[in-house]
Amino acid sequence: MYTQLEQRGMPEPPVNVSTLRKMKHDGVPIACLTAYDASYAALVDAAGTDLVLVGDSLGMVIQGHDTTVPVTVDDIIYHSRTVARGLRRAFLVADMPFMSYTKPGIALDNAVRLMQEGGAMMVKLEGGDDQVEIVEHLARHDIPVCAHLGLKPQSVHKIGGFKVQGREPDKAQEMRAAAERLQNSGADLVLLECVPNEVGKTITDALEVPVIGIGAGPDVDGQILVLYDILDITQGRTPKFVKNYQAGCTSPLQALQNYVGEVRESVYPAPEHCFS
Ligand code: KIV
Repeated sequence: MYTQLEQRGMPEPPVNVSTLRKMKHDGVPIACLTAYDASYAALVDAAGTDLVLVGDSLGMVIQGHDTTVPVTVDDIIYHSRTVARGLRRAFLVADMPFMSYTKPGIALDNAVRLMQEGGAMMVKLEGGDDQVEIVEHLARHDIPVCAHLGLKPQSVHKIGGFKVQGREPDKAQEMRAAAERLQNSGADLVLLECVPNEVGKTITDALEVPVIGIGAGPDVDGQILVLYDILDITQGRTPKFVKNYQAGCTSPLQALQNYVGEVRESVYPAPEHCFS
């Protein structure tokens, strides 16, 4: 009865939360990417990516908005179920969009939809101390949770732009304390966005759960980037942490394999992709 989940016809079993924890423990960098449809999901999976996120970045790269704020639960479900069909080995995480987790009951209803209708294996939400109660509630119902700290794009209008977070010692300390509280409340994964290397390292060392970074330096347990950024599809200025893997490649698959290889070998991120 368990064969389907364990094999899915692959030589390697699908990634789950235990795989990710073991990778942290063994010091094997976790390679993660976003995806938004079945065709790219299949390529991302074939390249050996461990974790795929249906991010609310789809509001920007798919829907053409300036921020992630307009994305709805139905949008994420639509894209997540298409991505789920393309994956065989990678672990599927879906974003909880803006205002979809304002109260524990609302968060639970929406997380259940992302898992049952979208095929997600974990949900990600942005927040610090304010989300402890929500994370606890989800964890009590056996919903795996990734807590997103550092730059929180859903708060862009409150922060006043997409800016590096945690540069001031008190803010870095607050972020570390929030990460520990979220872990102790049941978060299975922490994602850190746009923080100085030092903050990425301190939080990673302090936590037992894996820490995935995007612009969080080389000392986290894994890296994630937006698929369209690394395939050079995104037009205009890209963030400092983005590397164009399509350059010099003859196919998207080759570009994605190069990304996974560079994460595994700790070649990415290089100093030019990091914040101090
Ligand atoms: O929405 C998204 O794509 C994200 C990034 C941090 C990867 O949350």
